[in-house]
Amino acid sequence: MKLLITGGAGFIGSALIRHLINHTDHTVLNVDKLTYAGNLQSLASVADNPRYQFSQSDICDKDKMRALFADFAPDAVMHLAAESHVDRSITGSQDFIQTNIIGTYTLLEAARQYFNELDDDKKRHFRFHHISTDEVFGDLHGTDDLFTESTPYAPSSPYSASKASSDHLVRAWHRTYGLPVLITNCSNNYGSHHFPEKLIPLMILNALNGKPLPVYGDGKQIRDWLYVDDHARALYTVLTKGKIGETYNIGGHNEQKNIDVVHKICELLEELAPNKPAGVAQYKDLITHVKDRAGHDVRYAIDAGKIERELGWRPAETFETGLRKTVLWYLNNQDWVQNVQSGEYQNWLNKQYGDKV
Ligand code: NAD
Ligand code: DAU
Repeated sequence: MKLLITGGAGFIGSALIRHLINHTDHTVLNVDKLTYAGNLQSLASVADNPRYQFSQSDICDKDKMRALFADFAPDAVMHLAAESHVDRSITGSQDFIQTNIIGTYTLLEAARQYFNELDDDKKRHFRFHHISTDEVFGDLHGTDDLFTESTPYAPSSPYSASKASSDHLVRAWHRTYGLPVLITNCSNNYGSHHFPEKLIPLMILNALNGKPLPVYGDGKQIRDWLYVDDHARALYTVLTKGKIGETYNIGGHNEQKNIDVVHKICELLEELAPNKPAGVAQYKDLITHVKDRAGHDVRYAIDAGKIERELGWRPAETFETGLRKTVLWYLNNQDWVQNVQSGEYQNWLNKQYGDKV
């Protein structure tokens, strides 16, 4: 297949492209604007492969999207491009509305025009796979209830509301125009190449630099963590085996309180990076409780039964093995870390945490 992948220079998109180039025979066109979150260094290992191409493009650019569809003639689209950080959506929502809603709309229209001109055989095989989040469901307040594919949408943040909007657009383009779509809603990912504004990489890198570890509120909020390579496999499984028009929830069966995640990272660093920065007796001494996130979702947990029963996917990594691999990756990839810790990222840290970090 020829796969047009948006957002391929991001955390999950780059894991997906590495998976596709290393473990399948498909050809990939990576369409990415390269915002602060996009990093071509994450694709260095596949960049010279003849089955990989890159186009620096904005999904909101209608003419560019139409031209890319016409020139590349994809068999499927996997749409990951998005503004993805909840905290940034709280301090400035405009880019989220633009990329996540207008960008998805623009891509859907380009795909629809392209699809309408395909012959019947190509039409039968074409797919538009929209990659979304469990945050569209809002949050859970019980201890053992789970998000299923039929949980009503109740997004809390500008980010999750913009992703919910994009899901609705994709479903409408299927029902009204017959575009053959697939939707996946996944829980929190972690792993290598994760931009250090998100919880796990932020804590690893702050600890290694002897900086405070800023836990929002009491740290008892729960997330369901999935190793990013398991997500990449799940996306490929849905693309190749999923039923048109269906939604699949993807999760790690792995609920963790934020504060417990931070403690686990500190314990791993004690073992893997025992030479601590000056003045740090134990990494966990750096834990600092800071002001809570506005509208903070209490608990996310996914029922991933449908994708397991119908498509045979299950996560392979446990949190213990996945977190160890992740910490080791950050310890061994200081070049990547230094490149993403640009001036823009430092500005974000100052704006978000002030003198706390
Ligand atoms: P990310 O922020 O790491 O990467 C997003 C990528 O999209 C970047 O490479 C960026 O340059 C690109 N991009 C942004 N705006 C663009 C535009 N207008 N045109 C073209 N490219 C643009 O995000 P991620 O964590 O890899 O998430 C990827 C997708 O998966 C998103 O749609 C997100 O909502 C979804 N998701 C993420 C998680 C998670 O835990 N990270 C969980 C579930 C779902
Ligand atoms: O659930 C899927 C979502 O997971 C994705 O759709 C998003 O794109 C992705 O960013 C992620 O959203 P979260 O808001 O859950 O991830 P984040 O890493 O920002 O925060 C995880 C939890 O940790 C959350 O409860 C807030 C908390 N947190 C985060 C940061 C950055 C802290 O306590 N301190 C911090 O400094």
